Amino acid sequence: MTSPGVDAMRELARRALTNAHAPYSRFRVGACLRAESGRLYAGCNVENASYGITQCAEGGAIGAMIAAGDGRIVEAVIASEGAEPCPPCGRCRQQLAEFAGPELRVHLCGPEGIRVTTTLGELFPLAFGPRTLGPSGPGAGAP
Ligand code: THU
Repeated sequence: MTSPGVDAMRELARRALTNAHAPYSRFRVGACLRAESGRLYAGCNVENASYGITQCAEGGAIGAMIAAGDGRIVEAVIASEGAEPCPPCGRCRQQLAEFAGPELRVHLCGPEGIRVTTTLGELFPLAFGPRTLGPSGPGAGAP
């Protein structure tokens, strides 16, 4: 059974997906992140005529979370519409690893519901992250 919390996240991710700017790939993605505070942050992919600067849905949601003052992700939903689940791309895995540990639950959803539930650790083993930097990591220099 799906927890009510995840249903709310799926709904926000789906709403964001419907606003995606994806005229080039026509592949719309929505994401919703639950922060440690309990607050939910949604994002969608934003493509660009200069294809390489496209922003993924997860990056948009992370930006909203950081701008609102949260800093730790405890659950993630990624929604797409194609036949296959949409696992986060490599760049998004790295971005998620900045704000979450390997235990992060990631639900890959389609219009009908959750297709796969996995963890960041499974998606991104042996991640390079803030801890890898050791003493020069977070808090060492810049604000
Ligand atoms: N996309 C995401 O938004 N998140 C991912 O993790 C995978 C890919 C988007 C980027 C692009 O707009 C479209 O999906 C096709 O690659």
